[in-house]
Amino acid sequence: MCAALKINYSEEILKLKKSKNALILAHYYQRPEIQEIADHVGDSLALSKFAAAAKEDMIVFAGVKFMAETAKILNPGKKVLLPDLNAGCSLVDSCTPQAFAAFKKEHPDHLAVTYINCSTEIKAQSDIICTSSNAVKIIESLPKNQKVLFAPDRNLGKYLMEETGRELLLWDGACVVHEAFSFNKIIALYAQYPKSKIVAHPESDTSILDVAHFVGSTAAMIDYIKKSYACEFLIATEAGILHQLAKEVPNKKLIPVPTQEDNSCACSECAYMKINTLEKIYTCMLHESPEISISTDLIEKAVQPLNRMLSLSL
Ligand code: 13P
Ligand code: SF4
Repeated sequence: MCAALKINYSEEILKLKKSKNALILAHYYQRPEIQEIADHVGDSLALSKFAAAAKEDMIVFAGVKFMAETAKILNPGKKVLLPDLNAGCSLVDSCTPQAFAAFKKEHPDHLAVTYINCSTEIKAQSDIICTSSNAVKIIESLPKNQKVLFAPDRNLGKYLMEETGRELLLWDGACVVHEAFSFNKIIALYAQYPKSKIVAHPESDTSILDVAHFVGSTAAMIDYIKKSYACEFLIATEAGILHQLAKEVPNKKLIPVPTQEDNSCACSECAYMKINTLEKIYTCMLHESPEISISTDLIEKAVQPLNRMLSLSL
């Protein structure tokens, strides 16, 4: 009997990275072993900037499809690979190009500000894009009398209204992961850890954001936890962030907040983000497929609102 050859995917990926001159970008929600082989791990804004500045021939995006599409729009001369084209996002699904066009048509006097978690077709119809790290700044940069519609995340939209004091016309989309955090579970955990700080992503429901000590993007949460004098944190975002946090703040206690009221699920993982594996990254680099392909016309339209965002995010 001969034992099947076991491939060390991390080693093989690093070899391919060198021979194919590739840049590997990973979002904080990726599996720990993927974060370990990436050139950069970051939030959506940071990864967009790395993609735009990439000099390598190939960008391998360990994240979800809208992120890889953003990399292609910002650096169209590069080959952009996504290990699994099924890495979607519930926010993208909530907003179809046809429905968004109709929404805009109903409100022609409104400027369209859209969250980066949307398809290329929605970006192409938008005036300016934002991420969770720069959304407040972008809304505040607009003239006070300018009417604004915001899509597709209603929770981030509500948060922006509270933070900026501005009225926004909201699209009714949500993140399946962040909307599932349980208010009662957070309160019960906080009773157990009364000295802890609650950190949350703005994609969560208002009831969660109202009790959080800090609300911000994945990168902003890590920064807050690093700088805070507190020793215990209740983390209301996708569990992948715990990998970098454990490295950055090994002496702090990090407690993931459960998602379901009925204890049917205590984890907070995004199935779309977790669809990527080391094996899929290896295979996609080997075959240079699946590749992100977007028409030049669509890229030309979608890059404009993205560039407006980047010029306000220096
Ligand atoms: P960040 O902008 O914080 O990376 O968030 C992206 C995302 O998909 C959160 O669910
Ligand atoms: Fe989309 Fe939510 Fe997953 Fe982020 S965590 S990719 S917003 S479904």
